[in-house]
Amino acid sequence: MRIDIITVLPEILESPFNHSIIKRAKEKELAEIYIHNLREYSDDKHRKVDDYSYGKGAGMVMAIQPIEKVIETLTAERKYDEIIFTTPDGAVFNQQAANSLSLKENIIILCGHYKGIDQRIRDHYITMEISIGDYVLTGGELAAAIITDSVVRLIPGVLSDETSALTDSFQDNLLSPPVYTRPAEYKGMKVPDVLLSGNDKLVDNWKHDQAVERTKKLRPDLYRKFMGEK
Ligand code: ADE
Repeated sequence: MRIDIITVLPEILESPFNHSIIKRAKEKELAEIYIHNLREYSDDKHRKVDDYSYGKGAGMVMAIQPIEKVIETLTAERKYDEIIFTTPDGAVFNQQAANSLSLKENIIILCGHYKGIDQRIRDHYITMEISIGDYVLTGGELAAAIITDSVVRLIPGVLSDETSALTDSFQDNLLSPPVYTRPAEYKGMKVPDVLLSGNDKLVDNWKHDQAVERTKKLRPDLYRKFMGEK
């Protein structure tokens, strides 16, 4: 899978993809991630990428020219399945959206900034608008990093244990059960007996019950979905 991220702040995206699982996914050539500096596509002599908004609105708006140029450049080279814009007024991102994006071949993520982008970009080029939650960030870079991280780890072959993405929280509208490691007892705090029983069936049942209980208590919205009440 190839992900092209367009940003005015490439420095923010230098680190998130150079560690751990995402780094290994790139090394194994399961994911290619390219960061494009929007300023390099500006025809302005000062490499300006924003301008005053028409009408009375306060704040600067990302201009159409550099964005059109970078998108045209990339789409002339290959076909993209989605051109995503990160924005607080997009559809709220979730595990289902991550699953579906992980099946795509090529995607572009355009990071929003300032008071937004010229609407003509949204109307003519963007195929998907994503928010990572109901709060406002200073820019879309962290949102792009979150989307990329959650999608890349789902690409087949990225996680070493094939089942581990399947047992993630949210995959079946359930939170994950609690986990423990050695020692079995630490300063009087004990690991539940069932996990030491060696009985796989009992352990599986316990994990499932714990996941259901946790979800019911912490995320009643998810619990209703799990129970089939859409
Ligand atoms: N840009 C600013 N806030 C955002 C959010 N919540 N999600 C995605 N992009 C954003």
